[in-house]
Amino acid sequence: MRGEAPLSRLNFLLPSWIEPAAMDRSKIGGVTMNVGILTGGGDCPGLNAVIRAVVKRGTQLGHGFTGIKDGWKGLLNRSTIKLDAEAVLGILQAGGTMLGTSRTNPLKSRADTDSLMKNIKALDLDSLVCIGGDDTLGVAAKLFSMGIKTVGVPKTIDNDLSATDFTFGFDTAINVVTESMDRLRSTAESHHRVMVVEVMGRHAGWIAVYGGMAGGADAILIPEKPFDIDEVCACVNRRSEAGTLFSLIVAAEGAVPKEGNMITQNGELDAFGHVRLGGVGEFLAREIEKRTNHESRHVVLGHLQRGGSPTAFDRVLATRLGVRAAELISEGRFGRMVALQGNRIVDVSLEEATGKTKTVDMELFRTAGVFFG
Ligand code: F6P
Repeated sequence: MRGEAPLSRLNFLLPSWIEPAAMDRSKIGGVTMNVGILTGGGDCPGLNAVIRAVVKRGTQLGHGFTGIKDGWKGLLNRSTIKLDAEAVLGILQAGGTMLGTSRTNPLKSRADTDSLMKNIKALDLDSLVCIGGDDTLGVAAKLFSMGIKTVGVPKTIDNDLSATDFTFGFDTAINVVTESMDRLRSTAESHHRVMVVEVMGRHAGWIAVYGGMAGGADAILIPEKPFDIDEVCACVNRRSEAGTLFSLIVAAEGAVPKEGNMITQNGELDAFGHVRLGGVGEFLAREIEKRTNHESRHVVLGHLQRGGSPTAFDRVLATRLGVRAAELISEGRFGRMVALQGNRIVDVSLEEATGKTKTVDMELFRTAGVFFG
């Protein structure tokens, strides 16, 4: 902790339109800190918007910032960049993360854990804002139990974090899926083909359900409900018997055949123990063509879903979460994660928010099912 910031400086930094409540220094703690910010795990649109919001609001509250490069990896090798209001100018609309990211797990070995703790001290970091998915936030929760003042901001295109209704990045991803479906529809229709679209999402089918519904899919296959290949083929046949000679099928990368296993790229696990999913689209297209005689193709949308500018929804959500995260620092509320519940930004315990995958709401899936084949 750095002690009190001069009140005159704070007054200068706070624009007149900030509500008086936010200017009440006894409410916001009145303590300035050197706050480390990092982004970990897979990137997603909106990360820069969060960084900008944390730095802007945090600067108003008198804090200083250190950008940590490439997630936890940057804390293991003391790789940092200067982060101030000027450094975050013009990044709201930029995809990816200006800080870089990695899937490094800093608590994997005792030696890494020790150097992480040593480096937090050496870099003079009073607190950490950790922007990430379940893995990054799981580390933030663990570090909090070890005495480090952490605040979490949930991100992932997969939308699979419990305790928050939506994660930023998800809306951008489903818009990519929707636009792709619109494009694939015209070519599928022209060639009288079945088009299987494989989307991301890991072990949750949120991207598949929202993207599939918005794109008018004739079947949506999700990890939460193992699929029967005969039923998928029956759907294609029903449509062609009724005179519609093309079909659009959305498959989540984690979708599993009823009698079979999840399809993976290889058996390798990342630092947090995840396998690389992928291949179900190709498998389905091959099987559908073999069993129905309808010409079939597959498209893997892959990282296109993670790239590019965030949508307006994601920019606003990321900004709201970032502003609130900076305020939690001032209020001394650590070990917390900011979250969207209903239309309110709340904060929840990091420990309770991590470790549970939020799977697809079956009510929503039933609604999607009304429009299948
Ligand atoms: O968690 C986000 C995500 O895009 C998943 O949907 C996907 O399975 C995974 O990351 C891909 O990871 P990578 O970028 O390491 O290939």
